[in-house]
Amino acid sequence: DINELSPDEQKLIEISKEAIKNSYSPYSNFKVGAAVLLDNGEIIRGSNQENAAYPSGLCAERVALFYANANYPENKVIAIAITAANDKGILQFPIAPCGSCRQVMLETEQRFNKSIRTFLMGNDKIYRIDSVEQLLPLHFNRNFLSL
Ligand code: THU
Repeated sequence: DINELSPDEQKLIEISKEAIKNSYSPYSNFKVGAAVLLDNGEIIRGSNQENAAYPSGLCAERVALFYANANYPENKVIAIAITAANDKGILQFPIAPCGSCRQVMLETEQRFNKSIRTFLMGNDKIYRIDSVEQLLPLHFNRNFLSL
């Protein structure tokens, strides 16, 4: 429940809701917002950005994380909150990030060697997950490349 979260966590979720407003999703009409908290206190917003050439679009999570890593490469990602809405409003059940976003979230977690607390927002319940590793078991990562 939202009331079980700290004020800072509630704020991050609130910002992910606000980020939905900048979703560009005329093809799916499915709006997603993401808020990424950095270790300098900065909060980066992302929303899904679609394209007439469908695969050229990008999910909210990756828009936010790539922006964060491109502009604040030294700052660890501490947390991410994700909210989604369809024509009826914010989803009842927590949004489930797609596999590609989980992979990118995992890379960010391992790159900074810092677990990313993940909030998956739904109106009925919110999932709080302590690390992305839990969202993507048996993942492919840099170890397979012997780097
Ligand atoms: N989408 C996201 O932005 N994040 C998710 O976690 C799930 C899906 C977007 C991609 C596309 O613009 C629309 O939602 C429908 O798939």
